[in-house]
Amino acid sequence: MRILSGIQPSGTLHLGNYFGMMQPAVELQRQGECYYFIADYHALTTSSESALLRERVRGVALDFLACGLDPARTVFFRQSAVPEVHELAWYLSIVTPVGLLERCHSYKDKLAKGFSPNNGLFAYPVLMAADILLYDADRVPVGKDQKQHLEVTRDIAAKFNETFGETFRIPEAAIREETAVLPGLDGQKMSKSYHNTIEIFAPEKEFRKKVMSIKTDSTPVAEPKPIADSAILALARCVAGAAEVDAMMASMRQGGRGYGDYKQQLFEWLWHYFAPMRARRAELAAQPRLVDEILAAGEAAARRYALTVVARARKAVGIRG
Ligand code: ADP
Ligand code: TRP
Repeated sequence: MRILSGIQPSGTLHLGNYFGMMQPAVELQRQGECYYFIADYHALTTSSESALLRERVRGVALDFLACGLDPARTVFFRQSAVPEVHELAWYLSIVTPVGLLERCHSYKDKLAKGFSPNNGLFAYPVLMAADILLYDADRVPVGKDQKQHLEVTRDIAAKFNETFGETFRIPEAAIREETAVLPGLDGQKMSKSYHNTIEIFAPEKEFRKKVMSIKTDSTPVAEPKPIADSAILALARCVAGAAEVDAMMASMRQGGRGYGDYKQQLFEWLWHYFAPMRARRAELAAQPRLVDEILAAGEAAARRYALTVVARARKAVGIRG
């Protein structure tokens, strides 16, 4: 089985990214041949600061390696190391109805937020389809918000196969239901665009401050606390054992303790959970050459594979071959 996923270098890694995408991707390394990449071309649709982009690419490479990406098992690379992905995106765009792209939530959300839509933003899902089809991926671990992009990829692949003959494998999204949408500080989906994130590698003081600022209601200390839709519990479930979460839930039901106590406990769990990854990240950050070497090796392997698929696509459409 071939497993592929990408992450944009567009900010600092938060709990939603980690539990929604990175942790499942790291776990899947034992189940197949993995291709994981840093989607720097995609990040250009929302960033135009070149120095910042370079810094973020490095940052997300460190994040992924610190979180358990194993370069001995997984091909780890920058999307831009294989520029042929654009050639494939062009072939795919020929079979992509404009209406399909107009219906994409991520595009519609950006429009609603007042971004003026350039063609890069509009064609984003076509490039994403090319990312996936270029490596013959079977499964794509992503958070729930990427589900529609995976459906678009499947539609495009099927249409291409129908038009030009069997060329692409049809991939499937791998979405982990328990953490499909992790809530942020305000209870909405955790997302950097909502400014409600908890960064997993934040310094202790900042990390604690964020956890303590999780929005709660004004139930008095003595009263039972509502547990449905509790962001504290949703985050606790990711990092604490079932018995510990049950005890927290029972205490909330009973009343007598304030939200501050639960947040303090949650902070301790989270801080402890990410301790080995923090240590690993600091070690890796001190060896910049090592990260360069890992990416260079991954890029050579990714390119080797991708070129065979591009050749297949060229042949199918009648360009060379
Ligand atoms: P953001 O919403 O902060 O901009 P991205 O869109 O860059 O995050 O998401 C990167 C990866 O993390 C995607 O696979 C996405 O589905 C996943 N992800 C992001 N936020 C969450 C969340 N709150 N819950 C679960 N998965 C998430
Ligand atoms: N669109 C994804 C995100 O914002 C990143 C991405 C780009 C991706 N290409 C991909 C994810 C291919 C999986 C497969 O999170």
